[in-house]
Amino acid sequence: MAVVLKRFIGADINDYVSDLARLRMDVFRSFPYLYDGDMGYEAEYIQTYSQSPRSLFVLAIDAGRVVGAATGIPMADETEAFRKPFVERGYDPDSIFYFGESVLLPEYRGQGIGVAFFEQREGYADELGGFTHCCFCAVERPLNHPLRPADYQALDDFWRHRGYEKKPELTTEYRWKDVGQSSETAKTMTFWMKKLNT
Ligand SMILES: CC(C)(COP(=O)(O)OP(=O)(O)OC[C@H]1O[C@@H](n2cnc3c(N)ncnc32)[C@H](O)[C@@H]1OP(=O)(O)O)[C@@H](O)C(=O)NCCC(=O)NCCS
Repeated sequence: MAVVLKRFIGADINDYVSDLARLRMDVFRSFPYLYDGDMGYEAEYIQTYSQSPRSLFVLAIDAGRVVGAATGIPMADETEAFRKPFVERGYDPDSIFYFGESVLLPEYRGQGIGVAFFEQREGYADELGGFTHCCFCAVERPLNHPLRPADYQALDDFWRHRGYEKKPELTTEYRWKDVGQSSETAKTMTFWMKKLNT
């Protein structure tokens, strides 16, 4: 059976919160995220989305099993830590739509689902209206990080092909516990942006 994409908005995302948590803990365990997640951290993370009537989950579903997810939310509904760098640089948070994550199990990659995740989220921002930009952020890791696999392929070109530009002046911090560490550490997250055809 083919993978189907379905979207859920606002309160309708609540039925899929545990699927997103499972995928995030599984997929983000790999480099560069190295996220040693737990359900407590996930519950707190997802609150922002649960509380927004305009949040979006796009789910990739194979024979009833959720195998991938992409999320989005108006920047205005995000936390202060995310809005701050934009406000400081003169952007209006009301005009920016933020993508939380794209996570897809490895065996489903390379079939165009990641591209569709971007199209669906940009399409949703267009439908909502009033947004001039979409953005997301990615973790910074040193090139010589000891856990970087020799064959690791960064997603930068994939993102550039979707029309996104890295904005080194727009950064925030996220804290999580890395695989093999005993406590949370801060990570620098750099934003990527794309101007929408408004
Ligand atoms: C990001 C992620 C979701 C991308 O998923 P994906 O489904 O493999 O991506 P796609 O297949 O849509 O696109 C990958 C490339 O394959 C191409 N492609 C599209 N359809 C294809 C097909 N049928 N066959 C082969 N390649 C295809 C795409 O065009 C793209 O190449 P391009 O950038 O040169 O255009 C996935 O890599 C992932 O889960 N990574 C780990 C988590 C992560 O780092 N997420 C990002 C930060 S939140």
